[in-house]
Amino acid sequence: MHPVNDIRGTQGSALRGKRIVLCITGSIAAVETVKLARELARLGGEVIPVMTRAATKIVHPDSVHFATGNVPIIELDGSVKHVELCGESGSRADVLLIAPATANTISKIACGIDDTAVTTMATCAIGSGMSMIIVPAMHGSMFRHRIVQENIQKLKKLGVAFVGPKLEERKAKMASIGDVVAEVCRAAGPKDLAGKKVLVIAGSTREPIDYVRFITNRSSGATGLALAWEAYRRGADVEIWAGEGIGAPAFAKATVFGSVAELAKMAPGAKADIVIVPAAISDFTVRPDRGKIASSKPKTLGLEPAPKILGLLRRKGRVLIGFKAETGITGKELEKRARDRMKQHGLDMIVANLLEKVGTEDTEALVLRRSKKPVPFRGRKSALAELIFDLQEE
Ligand SMILES: Cc1cc2nc3c(=O)[nH]c(=O)nc-3n(C[C@H](O)[C@H](O)[C@H](O)COP(=O)(O)O)c2cc1C
Repeated sequence: MHPVNDIRGTQGSALRGKRIVLCITGSIAAVETVKLARELARLGGEVIPVMTRAATKIVHPDSVHFATGNVPIIELDGSVKHVELCGESGSRADVLLIAPATANTISKIACGIDDTAVTTMATCAIGSGMSMIIVPAMHGSMFRHRIVQENIQKLKKLGVAFVGPKLEERKAKMASIGDVVAEVCRAAGPKDLAGKKVLVIAGSTREPIDYVRFITNRSSGATGLALAWEAYRRGADVEIWAGEGIGAPAFAKATVFGSVAELAKMAPGAKADIVIVPAAISDFTVRPDRGKIASSKPKTLGLEPAPKILGLLRRKGRVLIGFKAETGITGKELEKRARDRMKQHGLDMIVANLLEKVGTEDTEALVLRRSKKPVPFRGRKSALAELIFDLQEE
């Protein structure tokens, strides 16, 4: 068995049973494709590599073979792999991903030219209506070429999805591997949230004490990011309100918040069908000192109750999901306190956990809904996100 199977599915199951045709063209960013292929495999996907001749001069086919477990297709032959993988056949793969895509390959595809294994796969994919993603990478001058731009627009009109590029250092650089993987998972995903707007409020608040200091908490924002990612995978239009320091992904519209007061001002403007609030929002606020408090003598801070944000997010027809984190109490008491909060704020679902049982990647939780049995959970935060969306649909 090829060693790629040792990592298949180790980071989740979003691509389990899915086949991705990964086309690599002659951009310097082809050096990234080994890592990209491994990430797709870690989510359970099978990667079938296809390379242009120019790509083989930048990354060796053996590296691509090693990364994917499959020998790259460089020349088409009598086995007509382009028809099998991208045409109207029963064995068509799930997604055609061209990463990185050169100006040359993009323009040829837009003109219906197919003179390499990659462009022939693309012509078949467009003709058969297969999901196709292009990740451009080129020098800035090539990207600004009017005809290249027109060709990109032409392909977008045909339904081809584009990820990136990032415009930096006068270059149109390939999008991050995380952003490419998110788009592949969405293309191969179930689309059960297509047409829905999902807002995730993630991370922690910062309550200023004086001009330079603030009170915050340990929330990493990881559960919020997992929820945003899962909503995007299922086809939703995703927005994130993120506490400071949470690196929001490119696929979501992101707004950064600071204090609870800022969140309270933002809450009435929320426009979403589903609002999920894993953020650790401070229960207390402080009247801040205007300057910097002197460190020479003791200082007592008066904590005042902060406004409750969940209640401000309640709307008719909206699904509202909250979280309740506690420490040092029994499971029974946790459930009771979570149910009280669900009632108090009119929540549709609440996810309760004991902070002692929350790790960096894994977590334990109890998912509660009105008049339904509690669902206990233990596992990766990505799997918890999957469960939350499954249960809110029931
Ligand atoms: C080292 C090197 C790096 C290159 N990087 C890029 C690039 O990032 N983007 C691009 O469009 N072309 C780039 N090129 C030019 C392409 O390789 C060239 O246009 C080639 O014909 C593309 O063929 P293909 O689209 O069939 O892969 C690069 C060429 C070399 C030698």
